[in-house]
Amino acid sequence: MIKVAPSILAVDLLEIEKKIKIIENCNADYIHIDIMDGHYVPNITFGPNMVKSLRKITKKTLDVHLMITPVLPYIQEFIDAGSDIISFHPEADSNHDEIFELISKSDCKPAIAIHPEIDVSSILHLLPLVKLVLIMTVVPGFGGQKFLESQLKKINEISEYKINNKLDFEIEVDGGINNITAKKCIDNGANVLVSGSYIFSEIESDYSKNIESLR
Ligand code: DX5
Ligand code: ZN
Repeated sequence: MIKVAPSILAVDLLEIEKKIKIIENCNADYIHIDIMDGHYVPNITFGPNMVKSLRKITKKTLDVHLMITPVLPYIQEFIDAGSDIISFHPEADSNHDEIFELISKSDCKPAIAIHPEIDVSSILHLLPLVKLVLIMTVVPGFGGQKFLESQLKKINEISEYKINNKLDFEIEVDGGINNITAKKCIDNGANVLVSGSYIFSEIESDYSKNIESLR
């Protein structure tokens, strides 16, 4: 089953509640929340307060993508804010055991995110520990960038590894996803599609159609 995760990075903050209500009525699966610290990435977005506020207005799965360094000092706050899935970039913090331990004590699903410059070989040992692997198909930091075709091989590699080792995690792709690039990712083994600028196009009545065109 192919899932779609609209990314609220593409939404005007003053309209966030209205946009979430529209998405609630579409057949979206997760709501993707990009947390950027101006340090791991050259952009600043939201903190745990945003997750807390969204938790009050939606029951949809909150898919929280941490683009922050360090990670460990903030994990508990993101859990308490009501995240359902938390992904972090492994190279952004060396305390992997502690991060996974905190997440495992909660109802949250642990996930890792893979930067385009990170090789699969360096994260293989973490795959048995996660419920989702987020593969970045742009350099993290900004919405609206062009899809990196070079990452298709990585999606395929991780998908093969998952099958060969009978592991149980979802494969999510994030960055430059539209109706054309989504298909390439699905063909290589992805089952969760994050999409911001493509879904939140100018015409609100198109959101539902945009979401369905990704599957
Ligand atoms: C980029 C973020 C993405 C971003 C995707 O660093 O991780 O989630 O919102 O935006 P689009 O779909 O516009 O590429
Ligand atoms: Zn993201």
